[in-house]
Amino acid sequence: MFPSSRLDPVILEHLLSQHRDLHARILALRAAFTPEEVPASPAAAEVRHLLLGLRERLAEHFAQEEQGGFLEESIARMPRLSAAARGVVAEHPRLLAAFDALLEHVPVRDIRPQEWSEARARFTDFADRLFAHERSEHAVVQQGYNEDFGIPE
Ligand SMILES: [Fe+2]
Ligand SMILES: [Fe+2]
Repeated sequence: MFPSSRLDPVILEHLLSQHRDLHARILALRAAFTPEEVPASPAAAEVRHLLLGLRERLAEHFAQEEQGGFLEESIARMPRLSAAARGVVAEHPRLLAAFDALLEHVPVRDIRPQEWSEARARFTDFADRLFAHERSEHAVVQQGYNEDFGIPE
C-alpha cells in the first residue's frame, strides 16, 4: 500500500542522507586526488582506500534504491514517469562498471605523472556522471510526489 498523499519523510530522509554521504565521499576524494603532483605511495594508497569505500557504499545505495520502492512508488503515482524511472535504474550497473574501470586505472606504486592525471580525469568524469544520475533521480521522485523537496541542483 502506498501512503495516501505524502512521501514517508523517514524513507525520504534516508535517501537524501545517503546522497549526502556519497557527496561527502566524492569531495574527500577530490581533495585526496592531488592535481599537480604525483603522490607518494601512502597518499596514493589513501586514494585507493577512499575509492574502495565509495565502491562499497555505491553498491549498497543502488541496491537499496532498486529494492526500496522509491522509484516504483513515484511511478504508481504518476505512470508517465515509468520510462524515466527505468532509465535511472538502468544507469546503476553502468555506473558501477565505470567505477570498476576507474579503479583499475588508479596506480598505487611507481606512479607516472601521466597515469595519475588520467586516473584523476576518470574520477572527475565519474563524479560528474554520478551527480547527474542523482539529479535525475531527485527529479523522478520529486515529480512522482509532486513536491519540491528543496533539493539543490
Ligand atoms: Fe541511483
Ligand atoms: Fe541515488
